[in-house]
Order: sequence, then C-alpha cells, then structure tokens
Amino acid sequence: MIFRKLCRHTITFSRRSILIVTFFIFPLIYTLFRQTKSDTLIQKEKPPLSLLFETTTSNAVLSKSELHIKLLRAKVERLASKVKSRAIVFNNKALNPNYNTHIFYYGWYGNTPVDGYYKHWNHTYLPQWEQDGKIYPKGSHSPILDIGSNFYPSLGCYSSQDPKVIEMHMKQLREAGVGVIVISWTPPNYTDSPSTILPLLFQYAKLYEIKIALHIEPYFNRNPINLIHHLHPFLSQYGNNVALYRMKKGNRHLPVFYIYDSYLTPAISWMEILTPEGAFSVRGGRMDAIFLGLLVDIQHRYHIKKSHFDGFYTYFAANSFSYGSTWKNWKTLAKFAKQNELIFIPSVGPGYEDTQVRPWNTKNIRQRRQGQYYDVAWRSAINSNVKYISITSFNEWHEGTQIEPAIPMKTSRFTYLDYEPMGSYFYLNLTKWWNEQFTKTLLKY
Ligand SMILES: *[C@@H]1O[C@H](CO)[C@@H](O)[C@H](O)[C@H]1NC(C)=O
Ligand SMILES: *[C@@H]1O[C@H](CO)[C@@H](O)[C@H](O)[C@H]1NC(C)=O
Ligand SMILES: *[C@@H]1O[C@H](CO)[C@@H](O)[C@H](O)[C@H]1NC(C)=O
Repeated sequence: MIFRKLCRHTITFSRRSILIVTFFIFPLIYTLFRQTKSDTLIQKEKPPLSLLFETTTSNAVLSKSELHIKLLRAKVERLASKVKSRAIVFNNKALNPNYNTHIFYYGWYGNTPVDGYYKHWNHTYLPQWEQDGKIYPKGSHSPILDIGSNFYPSLGCYSSQDPKVIEMHMKQLREAGVGVIVISWTPPNYTDSPSTILPLLFQYAKLYEIKIALHIEPYFNRNPINLIHHLHPFLSQYGNNVALYRMKKGNRHLPVFYIYDSYLTPAISWMEILTPEGAFSVRGGRMDAIFLGLLVDIQHRYHIKKSHFDGFYTYFAANSFSYGSTWKNWKTLAKFAKQNELIFIPSVGPGYEDTQVRPWNTKNIRQRRQGQYYDVAWRSAINSNVKYISITSFNEWHEGTQIEPAIPMKTSRFTYLDYEPMGSYFYLNLTKWWNEQFTKTLLKY
C-alpha cells in the first residue's frame, strides 16, 4: 500500500540527485568533511597522516549510492550536533497519554499458529523501477528466520490478530505516552483490511487509554463517494466508542481520518464530500469528520486547500525523499497551514531501510545512527510549532520505520539490523522522551 508512491519518487529523485550530487553537493560535502576533519584535529589528537590519506582516496572511488549515504550521514550528524544533547538515562516516570501524538499502526501481520499461514512476514521482493544492470533476489521470504524486514521483531513473527500481541502493543504505546494509533485501513473484505481485529484493538486501546483514528489506504477503486459509503458501517459500529479519537472542530468533536495518497483523486472529486455545497457533502452531518490529506510534493498544498481537507500530513520517514518529508520545509508548511486554517501534522520517523523488500532501493536508506536521526526529526517538528505530530511508524517492518522493539538476529544468510547497544526498547524510550518534550511545548500555548 505504502509502496507505489515511493517508487515513482525514486525515479525523479535519482536523476536529479545524480546531477545535484555531482555538481553541487559533492564539492560542498567535501569542504564540509575537510571542515569537520580540521575541527577534530583541534579537539582531539592528530590522526596519523595515513588515515587522512585513506579517507581521501576512498572518497574518490565511492559509488553514487555510497556517496549518497555518506552525504546524508554527514547531514544528519551536522543537524544532530545542533540538537541539544538528550538525556541518556530515561526516567521511569509515567507519562500521561498525549493525544496530540499520533502513530501509524499496521495490523496486517499473520502467522501459521494463529491465522493458518504467514501474512506479510513472507513479503515478496519487489521489482525495481529502473534497470541498473544488477541482479536482485526474486520470490518471497520464508519465515521464521527469513522475513521481509531489515530488522527482526522482539515478538517474533507475530499475528496481528493475537490478543496478547495487541495488548502488548497498547501497553508499550501507553508507556511511551503516545495517545493515538492511526490504523492502516481498507474496507471489510479488501486486502489487508483490519476489520476483524478492530474489536480487539478498540477493547485494548480503551484499557490503556489510547484512542483510535484510521489511515485510509488507496484500496481498489477508492473514490470519495465509496469511501463515505464504506466508512458508514465503521462509524455506526464505533462512533460512540470511547476509544474512537475525536478532534475539536468549532463546537463539535469529530473522528479523524488520514487519507494516504489523497492526491490520486482530483480536488473537484474531494469537494463533492468536503465542501458544504458538495453533492455528497458530509459537512455538518453524521458522517462529518476531520479529513487529512497527504502532502508529498510542493504543489499538493493547492490540492489540499482546493479539496477542502481539514489538514495534511507527510507520512514518509526518509528526510528529503519528498518535499513534505524534508525536515527543513516544515516551518514553511506550518506557516502555510496557519494562513489557510489547516491542521499540519508532520511525520517523524527513526530512519528508513527497506532493502529486504526493495533490494535496489539503497539510496533511500536513512540510518538510525543510534537515535540521532529520530532526534533531528522530532526537534524539527517541535521547532515548527505544530500542535500535532505523527510518528511513522509503530510497526511498518518492511520499510524499517518501526519503533516497536527489535532483537539482534543472525542467520547463515543474513544479519538483521538491531538497536544495540541501547537495547530492544530504545526507540520506545526515546519516543517517550521526545513525547515529553513535545507535551511541555504544548503547555506553553
Ligand atoms: C526503557 O523502557 C523499558 C520499559 O519501559 C524500561 O524497562 C527500561 O529501563 C528503559 N531503559 C532505560 C535505559 O531507561
Ligand atoms: C505468504 O504465504 C501465504 C500462505 O502460504 C500465501 O497465501 C501468500 O501468498 C504468501 N505471500 C507472499 C507474498 O508470498
Ligand atoms: C465479507 O465477507 C464475508 C464472508 O465472505 C461475508 O459474510 C461478509 O458479509 C462480507 N462483508 C462485507 C462488508 O461485504
């Protein structure tokens, strides 16, 4: 679901990036490296000359994607050094749920003991978009030891239907103070529909004081009119549930729907349901809600505005992958949102790596750097003075954006990434820490 957009962008990104890297950024970064190097020389003891020499020569033979990764690493390091150093020791104080912190949640995993077969852990290798002359693996992963993720979950290849798993997830999110889960959603009987687990999710969410919003995926033939039609049974069933998240609009409290890839539908179609004058308007009625569009490219601002969405989010965890996912654009986007009375919810993530499902997609890797990447994302979001922040993701394991606990795992064929030496809970703890900072800044408003 989340995959299509990524690929299209990879293409435009790659051609441009080669040019940019060659003519602008390489000389820039080279200067930067030299700068950093001389800084190190002042602070620390002088490294042996041979080391400097080696670094310089290896720079010269770097492949484009290696260079790209190196470049991004330098950027994150530079930005991270600006972020005030966070406490290394996390406190164990309970944090109240912050309902302004939302997290994308996936309920699409299945395993043989619970579901009768594996779902998603046995993800296929996806074909690449531009032939690059290299040969990549085909077919699909075969759990338990070989899964479609660069990381390995602490809970193993779990089933999203398992009540014990759902309870554990809610408990973990409650401890991190994350108030709202945004569940990936397609209508009942569509691929990856969470409809059979929604009763359990609502039950355990309530128990842990967590609220639920939906992330509407681009299910087959989605359009604004059938979307309202499909949402009707959902709202009939859960509209009065205390665990349904509601956001204040005027004097009403409305459910919230994030709409992935909303720009695939023309603004005039969204207007049919989102403007008071629309032929199928939901405004003011029982189906009214806060509808949030996805902003990928800069011109989507006009699509969001014209469609009459209530606000927008950015989803992608890879900084500079799209206009919306570029941290330095968030202040501008916040200003645009304010001027147009829109809700802006930037999406922060701990990193990105999906080469177990897209082996060719090395240029979008964003290394976690022991939490530094996540730090800069959170700081950028908080500094843009937003009222809401979304986290990509709790458990999108295929793209390596999860904050869910992971364990070290090594097989004869593959070594998974992990959170060591900080441990499995590191990203939950770090989320709690940043969530606390965010809560403090919200109190100032
Ligand atoms: C991280 O969180 C877990 C679970 O809440 C806790 O047991 C652990 O002590 C925390 N780690 C640190 C370093 O504070
Ligand atoms: C995963 O396994 C199940 C059961 O064998 C199968 O139905 C499904 O198509 C597999 N998925 C992939 C992507 O191979
Ligand atoms: C989904 O499929 C099941 C079983 O085939 C059927 O009983 C149910 O009515 C369907 N639900 C919807 C909403 O179509």
